[in-house]
Amino acid sequence: MRRSKKLLAGAALAVGVVLSTGGTGIGWAADGGVREKGVESRNEMWAKKYPNQYNSWKETSQNDEITDLVAKKPQLAVLWAGYGFAKDYNAPRGHFYALQSNINTLRTGAPVGPATGPMPTACWTCKSPDVPRLMDEQGELEYFTGKWAKYGHEMANSIGCADCHDSQTAQLKISRPYLLRGLEAVGVDTAKITKNDMRSLACAQCHSEYYFKDTEWTDKDGNKKVAKVVTLPWDNGLTAEDMEKYYDDIGFNDWVHKISKAPMVKAQHPGYEIFRSGIHAKSGVSCADCHMPTQKGEGGTYSDHHIASPMANIDTVCLNCHEQSAEDLKAVVENKLARKEQLMEIAMDNLAKAHLEAGKAWELGATEAEMKGILLDIRHAQWKWDYSIASHGSFFHAPEETLRLLSVANETAQAARLKLVQVLAKHGAVEYMAPDFSTKDKAQALAGVALPAEIAEKEKFRATLLKEWEKQAAEKGLLDPETRKGMSNKTSYNKGA
Ligand code: HEC
Ligand code: HEC
Ligand code: HEC
Ligand code: HEC
Repeated sequence: MRRSKKLLAGAALAVGVVLSTGGTGIGWAADGGVREKGVESRNEMWAKKYPNQYNSWKETSQNDEITDLVAKKPQLAVLWAGYGFAKDYNAPRGHFYALQSNINTLRTGAPVGPATGPMPTACWTCKSPDVPRLMDEQGELEYFTGKWAKYGHEMANSIGCADCHDSQTAQLKISRPYLLRGLEAVGVDTAKITKNDMRSLACAQCHSEYYFKDTEWTDKDGNKKVAKVVTLPWDNGLTAEDMEKYYDDIGFNDWVHKISKAPMVKAQHPGYEIFRSGIHAKSGVSCADCHMPTQKGEGGTYSDHHIASPMANIDTVCLNCHEQSAEDLKAVVENKLARKEQLMEIAMDNLAKAHLEAGKAWELGATEAEMKGILLDIRHAQWKWDYSIASHGSFFHAPEETLRLLSVANETAQAARLKLVQVLAKHGAVEYMAPDFSTKDKAQALAGVALPAEIAEKEKFRATLLKEWEKQAAEKGLLDPETRKGMSNKTSYNKGA
């Protein structure tokens, strides 16, 4: 490791420059924003002033691949039985596709009108700069009230400029108020956020753990409403144990497991949180240092807005600070991934078996009292497994923490299974073996997922209401169909698209 001048300069910047959201403290802000008031959610409206950033942002369209993770890791369908993720869950792809992924996933269901479908409006929150626009136009609580389909015709632009930049000044900005509240809850003075902090906090707006908190409010006409507000469970701190305690204390479940009946919490993607425990974060390295390296372009240098895996750019990213060869570093990263995969597979097998064994125990007449401690073990084990891997980059961002959590998850799942051996024996099943869940079909059958029916409904939605949304957005001037030319439309269930 070479203590490069660049790294030291970055660290100095981190302590020296305080971001003032209203002022012009940052050099490039001199070029200014793109409109006088309101939020400019249309990415192409930023292109003329900032062509390098726009063109590189557009390259996030290059990763349009669907990797069906339920097919790759069928245990997932068992782990999430009774919850939407058991139907459809793919690896992340480029920001350009975030909106399309959200619309196409079987998890968002097949609404037929603005008040139907399984999901709340909150499900749009990390997909589009139309979210800060709507919060600005209608207020945050109105935005968080109602069903997902309420805003289908308003969500036209995928993750882009106004998610991270102020439309008036172009400076970096936290556009999601819940992140400011989360930071304040852990004692951060949000008036003193530095520019270097912002190079990670811009990402933490979405790459964080959250839940939907029911919040009663009264609108301007005196109507009582309930908003489902995206809330970061950070009050006790950012570790898996801190958040587990938060959820346990308020008795929160995302769902009750269909097979084991365990009260479950789904970790979303605590990427920022787990990153903070790693050596790069502790050394003052920010997300943008690796995912948005400086590039040379026409008219000077700029930050590469093609946010993707840095492993395609080891030379321009890692070698800024490291002396090893690109090949050696690649091998180091691959090794970290392999170690995580090994422990993760064991944890998922253990957890899937624990759910199925618990299901068998219920079937044979086990009592609530016999099952209570077991179900709590399963809840805690699965939470730690999920927290450790759900953000996909954790094996590299925080390898020790990831492996520690996977070990604890394994130990806790094993503890549940040992107790289950006794309960099962007591109820007459001495050598019970969990059924085979080695393929997506088998695992989804165990989880009770009726995939063909789900797909048929979804295809109907895509052919009807979705087309109507797109038409309305174009008429309102929110969506320029030109910007979607050449965009693929891949899903896990329709390979022809
Ligand atoms: C407005 C929400 C939002 C913000 C802000 C955001 N992301 Fe994302 N990010 C997402 C979503 C959603 C996906 C998955 C998109 C999909 O699969 O369609 C994603 C995907 C990614 C991927 C995978 C890309 C690929 O090609 O595999 C990386 C890497 C990533 N984000 C890094 C970052 C970094 C670094 C930042 C901050 C500079 C950031 N993100 C800011 C929501 C966001
Ligand atoms: C996921 C968050 C994110 C998105 C989306 C995003 N930016 Fe940025 N942008 C950043 C970060 C982080 C920096 C680096 C700031 C720094 O280090 O000064 C940056 C820097 C910039 C700069 C300063 C010059 C430079 O290149 O460092 C400009 C101008 C800019 N972005 C414009 C845009 C435009 C235009 C879009 C939309 C096409 C966009 N950004 C989308 C996060 C984002
Ligand atoms: C020191 C460099 C570095 C820093 C800093 C960094 N990352 Fe990463 N990130 C990586 C590497 C390397 C990978 C693994 C890429 C791979 O497997 O191809 C990765 C993977 C990811 C992924 C998963 C992408 C995928 O498609 O599986 C996401 C999302 C991500 N990072 C987001 C972030 C966020 C958000 C931050 C800040 C909180 C951050 N990263 C900070 C280097 C970094
Ligand atoms: C801005 C500077 C910077 C960048 C960019 C950067 N690193 Fe690092 N890296 C560090 C620092 C600082 C440490 C801590 C080691 C130390 O203090 O000696 C570190 C530590 C490491 C370690 C050892 C710790 C561990 O987690 O095993 C590895 C491996 C590593 N980096 C790989 C990478 C790779 C791969 C990339 C590119 C994706 C990368 N780094 C990008 C600064 C950087």
